[in-house]
Amino acid sequence: MASLRFDGRVVIVTGAGGGLGRTYALEYAKRGAKVVVNDLGGDAHGTAASTSMADKVVAEIKKAGGEAVANYDSVEFGDKIVQTAINNYGRVDVVVNNAGILRDVSFGNMTDLDWDLIATVHLKGAYSVTKAAWPYFRKQKYGRVISTASNSGVYGSFGQANYSTAKAGLIGFAKTLALEGQKYNIFSNALIPTAGSRLTETILPSEIVAALKPEYVMPLVIFLTHESCTENGQIYEAGAEWFGTVEFYRSAGKIIENATPEKVRDNWAQITDMKNARNFKPGEIMEYMMTIMSEKESKKENTSSGSGASSGLESA
Ligand code: NAI
Repeated sequence: MASLRFDGRVVIVTGAGGGLGRTYALEYAKRGAKVVVNDLGGDAHGTAASTSMADKVVAEIKKAGGEAVANYDSVEFGDKIVQTAINNYGRVDVVVNNAGILRDVSFGNMTDLDWDLIATVHLKGAYSVTKAAWPYFRKQKYGRVISTASNSGVYGSFGQANYSTAKAGLIGFAKTLALEGQKYNIFSNALIPTAGSRLTETILPSEIVAALKPEYVMPLVIFLTHESCTENGQIYEAGAEWFGTVEFYRSAGKIIENATPEKVRDNWAQITDMKNARNFKPGEIMEYMMTIMSEKESKKENTSSGSGASSGLESA
């Protein structure tokens, strides 16, 4: 099969001055894309700024014969980043929301600044850049968005109440954009990476950081944002040359008519039984709730007409 090329495409990678973002930017350029290398050039905790990180990556890309331009704005100012793409290349096709910082501290010791900076960079940043690109995506009926989540947002992580909240938020963000963008051929997915970088070098042992190369995550991002990929509204995971997907499952549950706290307690085993649990694609959940309601109605009708037919949903 043909290799995945990005000729004619314009790709914005936020936080592309180092770590994961840098490997994405280099690869997009290698595959023919024009790349906006955004990086504020600050430290891992969201303070300070410099132009050198983005400049270095742009120089690397150009040296290898690729096309790239640097942007040094914070992701909060997405319109400026998208404007860099428009001014230099006249369009934007792909947004990889990757910029990130950490401010790990136990919840009891967390300050408003720890909370706000994380929310600003991860949540407001992804919102702001994607929001500015959205009208272009809609007009050209084409767009690809990756929002970088984290295992921390799915499972929780000690000392990361701020970060895990923001990362979980990005999952909802990716899934909702998938629903709203679909009819314009805009596809949006969430990514959970695991890689050795300056964000993880303080948390993981050095030999593990060395083994978790950012290059091992990159192929998934490239594939998901290619025009041939129609995946939409999902969560994908990559690290250490392993690739997978993450889904949320909901138990089959139980209808409890005239529920009381005691009836909930007494039916706990069935409420939480995951034997027949299932997952839902974006948009399916409302349909499913309607099914439950109509099954409940038909059960009521059957009971009042005395037919005794089973709807498959037991009453408590
Ligand atoms: P990194 O620290 O090497 O790269 C993040 C980049 O974002 C840095 O170059 C930094 O200067 C830039 N940045 C920070 N704030 C910015 C802002 N306001 N505007 C523009 N650029 C800004 O870290 P890494 O590991 O490459 O992280 C990339 C993304 O992946 C982050 O969103 C991170 O939360 C996420 N992630 C990483 C994991 C890992 O195992 N490395 C695990 C889960 C998620």
